[in-house]
Amino acid sequence: MELIQISALQDLLSHFRFHLTLRSEEGHYHSLILFRLASGKETEPSLSDKAHDASKPEQGASIEDRQIYVMEASCPHLGADMSHAEIEECDMGVIAVCPWHRYDFNLKTGKSETGLTTCTYAVEVKTDPKDGLEKVYMEYPKGGRNWRLIELRPVSEEFADPPSPIPIQYLPEGIESGEPREDEPVIPMTRAPTTLMQWAVLILNTPDPMLKVERTRHAAHMFFTGKLALVGNKSPSAPQPPHTPPRDASFSRNTVDVSKIRSRKNRAVMLHALANIEQWAIDLAWDIIARFGPVHHNLPPAFFFDFTKMALDESKHFSLLTSRLAAISPSTPYGSMPVHASLWESATITSHSLRSRLAIIHLVHEARGLDVNPATIERFKKAGDMDTVAVMEVIHADEVTHVTSGHRWFTWICAQEGDVDPVDAFRAEVKKGWRGDIKGPFNVEDREKAGLTREFYEGLKGEMGFPTTEQRIGETQKSGAVEQLATRVSALQVGYEH
Ligand code: FES
Repeated sequence: MELIQISALQDLLSHFRFHLTLRSEEGHYHSLILFRLASGKETEPSLSDKAHDASKPEQGASIEDRQIYVMEASCPHLGADMSHAEIEECDMGVIAVCPWHRYDFNLKTGKSETGLTTCTYAVEVKTDPKDGLEKVYMEYPKGGRNWRLIELRPVSEEFADPPSPIPIQYLPEGIESGEPREDEPVIPMTRAPTTLMQWAVLILNTPDPMLKVERTRHAAHMFFTGKLALVGNKSPSAPQPPHTPPRDASFSRNTVDVSKIRSRKNRAVMLHALANIEQWAIDLAWDIIARFGPVHHNLPPAFFFDFTKMALDESKHFSLLTSRLAAISPSTPYGSMPVHASLWESATITSHSLRSRLAIIHLVHEARGLDVNPATIERFKKAGDMDTVAVMEVIHADEVTHVTSGHRWFTWICAQEGDVDPVDAFRAEVKKGWRGDIKGPFNVEDREKAGLTREFYEGLKGEMGFPTTEQRIGETQKSGAVEQLATRVSALQVGYEH
């Protein structure tokens, strides 16, 4: 049996579940879940306990007697993500119970009592004679050439752990905090969302960034654990996303004398600007769901899982960055410096087409993030701010997976449109929807990990013209406060343009 190496066994001891992504030479993807269970003789929690505590590292476990299974990440019934499946032992063996409709699948055979079958892959553990380490391998998938592992990451509940962002009422004296507001609940008292589409639009319309983060966590958790089993994109009454997500006025004022930030200036300004980008990134992930879900009825559930996970990651990034900002510069919390909305300009330009949106936002903007993050990390390292370095490294690793999702769904839509070549299609989209060169230097290695080989982006130039003054005024009037803000406040060129 032909095998693919997954990992050293010891590297799988930190968690019980891992997302695996494989990509073939043709650009096809397989999303899989690896379940690592313990045998009954170990002193670990029961199988069902572990199912609810997927992120908890194992204490003092030996590497013997492991049960390791690999199965498709999407349930064959209606496509639920199986990463939060419950694991149970019964007469038919060890089964994974889908969080949506509770169909059960044998982790070895893939069979369900319902008659459906999911794909499972044989797993082997072998000692590598070169280094004496035990390595875990899985069966090679059928179809496709040169499959390789491009992502292995733990299924984690860590998103619940980042320190809370600083609430706006804690802004220091002298900084305007806007009108005092009644605390708005995470779940609205009336007309609480019942579908993913409704949550997406509610979150897009939530101006307070902290509430946006809380709602994102809640909606993602509900969706992943099967408490929100409806995507709702095929409903004729699916809600419309806003043209531009609103922002609290108090977050759009330049209220601080930046010269007073002194030696913390560079780091604080940069953290503030990065947090602003993350706030827009949360909206971008929900917007792609809400805007294009109702237009493309054939989008599989995996699309909605990928972008919900992306929204969750971005909200984690926002919380981590605002917490670091509060730690290193308490006098300049989030909301106290100028912000810009330039990322949303690309969202507006691509609001007519999913293919354009994926190309410009996820394969140009986000891929540029991969290029510049290492230099940003280096700057924090030089400043001796190792806590922020750790945060930035988490963000960078997540961003590679976001570009991978962009590539995955871009190639998917190209295939749907009659086997359009993804490289040609991407270059055509950039010509239409981008101004100027796709700038290097490129992080070739991480771009390649995400599926962006050099032929996608080398020697590429966008030919989109600059809007006329009339068009700009028209856009500003149409879209309201955020664009007005962007034109009034000097944008901080931090994040993409080193
Ligand atoms: S049982 Fe898994 S989606 Fe329905």
